[in-house]
Amino acid sequence: MKAWINVIAVVVLLTLLPFGTSLSEELHQKGQQVFQSKGCVACHTIGGGRLVGPDLKGVTQRRVEEWLRKWLKDPDTMIQTDPIAKEMLKEYLVPMPNQGLTEEDIDALISYFKHEDNKQINNKEE
Ligand code: HEC
Repeated sequence: MKAWINVIAVVVLLTLLPFGTSLSEELHQKGQQVFQSKGCVACHTIGGGRLVGPDLKGVTQRRVEEWLRKWLKDPDTMIQTDPIAKEMLKEYLVPMPNQGLTEEDIDALISYFKHEDNKQINNKEE
């Protein structure tokens, strides 16, 4: 009897395992779509150099996640109150417009930035 329960548990785990990995795969892919569809690409590249705004390569290393969230949610307020944001504005001169992102968009974007940064770290080590 017990053995059967173990077998069932293993089968359930094995079915869920690929599902879990495909979920995180989906999140950064969704982030890439948001990045393209919300017009971020008009002002940013990742690893392609500076445009109107900074190259976002390495952004998850130079900023903590909490800062990124606040920035993506409300750049207008950040530009007035946050010292890092104020410094960026001095350099880039154009204030980044609020892109009206939802929490879901922001989760996906951060997952996408992390994914891109991990890729670059891995490439460097090769
Ligand atoms: C009209 C141009 C423009 C658009 C569109 C835009 N940004 Fe920006 N972004 C900027 C500028 C300029 C800065 C630098 C800070 C400033 O001057 O406001 C910036 C800064 C950032 C930063 C901080 C970079 C760092 O080094 O800390 C992130 C992250 C970012 N943008 C993400 C996005 C995302 C995601 C989108 C799309 C949803 C987007 N931006 C759309 C112009 C833009």
